[in-house]
Amino acid sequence: MPLVNTKGMFKVAYEQGFAVGAFNVNNMELIQGIMEAVAEEKAPVILQLSKGARQYANPKWLTALIQTAAAQYPDIPICMHLDHGDTVELANQCVDEGYGSVMIDKSHDPFEVNVAETRKVVEHAHARKYYCSVEAELGRLGGIEEHVVGVSADQLDKFLTDPKEVQEFVKATGVDSLAIAIGTSHGAFKFKSEPKLAFDRLEKIQALLPGFPLVLHGASTVIESYVEKINKYGGQMVKAMGVPEEAIRKASTLGVCKVNIDTDLRLAMTAEIREVFTKDPKEFDPRKYLGPARKAIKEVVKRKLAVLGCVGKAEACLKASQC
Ligand code: G3H
Ligand code: 13P
Ligand code: ZN
Repeated sequence: MPLVNTKGMFKVAYEQGFAVGAFNVNNMELIQGIMEAVAEEKAPVILQLSKGARQYANPKWLTALIQTAAAQYPDIPICMHLDHGDTVELANQCVDEGYGSVMIDKSHDPFEVNVAETRKVVEHAHARKYYCSVEAELGRLGGIEEHVVGVSADQLDKFLTDPKEVQEFVKATGVDSLAIAIGTSHGAFKFKSEPKLAFDRLEKIQALLPGFPLVLHGASTVIESYVEKINKYGGQMVKAMGVPEEAIRKASTLGVCKVNIDTDLRLAMTAEIREVFTKDPKEFDPRKYLGPARKAIKEVVKRKLAVLGCVGKAEACLKASQC
């Protein structure tokens, strides 16, 4: 099966109330760990590459690794996606390189600029012989607490996605999916106190865009056992806090079809590598620390697939992608 776009998988995900995991990848071990997990759980998957990942590993090498994954796992629909494309040029370049999906992120620009730049990518991506999906973003990521302190509801709209803008944005741009800001943020320190997401906004947005796929960035849980292990073996990740798994599950039933996870993979890899080095400071065979790291990636991804509700959904997504 060739690499797919997100159309088919999002259609099935929306209808059946689950989300597809979008995992950030930078190297072979990450890709292998993720693929072993989705193959065992028969789940669809999005492998996403940031601009930084492309710079680190060379886009051609990453594409070759993902194409190898597609050849090795023909029953798993895999979408190769550009995460947070910051310019029209980069997004269009990835369209030309054969990505199944690209994100153009102009969420920090004024609404009109975001619309105009997103539209340019949509026109290029949708004109390709094999349709390339486009994701855009409205609103800015960042914990509710940091935005909400002493801030009126109007001001909050400046940061979190304003439901009043979503219909116009989707219509004017023609995007295939929309990343929304409801209080999540990137990285391992998402909340200072009790984690809180703006589900009221998510529900409003879903009602305004029935059947339209939404995307949740900054969705790592910051799994406690890995943070503890990192700290136990010499790391310093104090007060790390993420999005509770119940919140991710709930979002997956409210139109969120794609859930972005990077930090949890980084934590798992780091914890395992730190353990190996601390227990055996003489170790210098990369296989002895990258092997356990790859195994941990597989375990984390399996856990995520259960939370997202996408276990066993590969076949239906594959069929929908072929239509
Ligand atoms: O949202 C960003 C992802 O976690 C990718 O991070 O730009 O450091 O590769 P990166
Ligand atoms: P996390 O930092 O929560 O894993 O979010 C990753 C992400 O949104 C990538 O686009
Ligand atoms: Zn993101």
